[in-house]
Amino acid sequence: MNWPYPRIVAHRGGGKLAPENTLAAIDMGAHYGHTMIEFDVKLSRDGQIFLLHDDTLERTSNGWGVAGDLTWDALLNVDAGSWYSGAFKGEKLPLLSEVAERCRTHRMMANIEIKPTTGTGPETGRAVALAARELWQGMTPPLLSSFDIDALEAAQTAVPELPRGLLLDEWRDDWQALTARLGCVSIHLNHRLLDKARTAELKAAGLHILVYTVNDPRRAATLLGWGVDCICTDRIDEIGPDFSA
Ligand code: G3P
Ligand code: MG
Repeated sequence: MNWPYPRIVAHRGGGKLAPENTLAAIDMGAHYGHTMIEFDVKLSRDGQIFLLHDDTLERTSNGWGVAGDLTWDALLNVDAGSWYSGAFKGEKLPLLSEVAERCRTHRMMANIEIKPTTGTGPETGRAVALAARELWQGMTPPLLSSFDIDALEAAQTAVPELPRGLLLDEWRDDWQALTARLGCVSIHLNHRLLDKARTAELKAAGLHILVYTVNDPRRAATLLGWGVDCICTDRIDEIGPDFSA
């Protein structure tokens, strides 16, 4: 595919400078000039798509329990900002639809990480792909990614034309067959899995490479020098949109 995405991607919206996966985080990413963000999405019990990294609410909000077991009614007033600092008190868990509008306002591209609540891969992948197609009309297509093979498969079946990336936190020797089967345009790797030779091998297979989470500028420069396409970072200030190797 024609790869439209920039070299630097702001992890969870605003990296470490705002509460992750909130509209405030996206605004922070935009404030530092970023043109692409990554964020994590899952389903509420009644099928609303919203941003949250963990299965459970405790770490990043004042709610508790498994978020995917709750209806949107029970999630919409959760405070997802106070855990980070008082300055972000009252930040909400954003809906994917709100995030799409914020991306439109800031002219930002998106890497939507499908992060299903355990056991809900297929329905989450399908719902996210269908919603993303509608919500991102007129914008650069969002890059869908997931560690969850079932979710990627469901996204592929539902909306084959949206680009997909396979996320790996551990190396798999079957990466080539798997990315081919899932029709992936990219592979998204923990940067510790890469060396120069492996980078060349992946590129020779026609895959674009995104690495996470790279917070050391020297490491980011090395990876870009090897031919990595995208660096996903928490250091959105030091590894800014104009960063180059
Ligand atoms: O998509 C890259 C990265 O976000 C994957 O790991 O745990 O930060 O969602 P995690
Ligand atoms: Mg993520």
